[in-house]
Amino acid sequence: MTKTRVLSIALCLACAAGAASAADVKSVLLSSFTPKGQATLDRLDQDATQKACSTGAPLSGEAAAKIIADNTATIRYPADGQYLGDWKNGDKIAQTGTGLQSSDDPAKPSGGNCYACHQLAEAEIAYGTIGPSLKQYGKLRGNSESMLKYTWAKIYNAQAFMPCSTMPRFGHKNILTEQQIRDVMALLFDPASPVNQ
Ligand code: HEC
Repeated sequence: MTKTRVLSIALCLACAAGAASAADVKSVLLSSFTPKGQATLDRLDQDATQKACSTGAPLSGEAAAKIIADNTATIRYPADGQYLGDWKNGDKIAQTGTGLQSSDDPAKPSGGNCYACHQLAEAEIAYGTIGPSLKQYGKLRGNSESMLKYTWAKIYNAQAFMPCSTMPRFGHKNILTEQQIRDVMALLFDPASPVNQ
């Protein structure tokens, strides 16, 4: 192949990539995905935050502020003011990575899969490091009202604090129920939890 031909192919690929609009990308996805179980094609419909985070371009300050404002507006605190549930159940939720997949039973509660990204209990040696270590979370930070509220909100919708965070928006996207969030909160804050040993 001549040098000119290699160059023109490279340029053409670059121009095609640049010209691909969000609509083009969606039509390719629509033609290759098939709905299965609870994984229906409406999963390809992005909300404003997902769209803003999918462009591949750096976020402007204005776009980042809009993501924070939009996601902050979604946060629901527990109506009864109880932030903490059962850490033992929270530990199971943190260890469970199933839920929402086409093969999962939608009637069963989803897991939080927290260990996929975070260190939590010292004894657990298999954990991911996409997120910071949460080891001794409650012991190090205390359990003031503001710390409980911040942590609840972070789990409910991480993008209220960090635009385009990779952490799932557990409450906002109905991945975890209010009671499940209480249980993982207890895992983080309860002095008896393995996280705080
Ligand atoms: C796909 C990766 C991922 C998963 C799964 C995940 N997180 Fe996170 N988490 C992150 C990242 C990355 C951060 C750092 C801040 C950010 O980007 O939002 C974070 C930050 C946090 C923070 C704030 C820590 C601080 O220093 O203030 C808490 C609390 C937290 N995660 C709890 C959880 C819990 C509880 C679960 C499970 C229910 C969970 N995370 C699941 C990626 C993840």
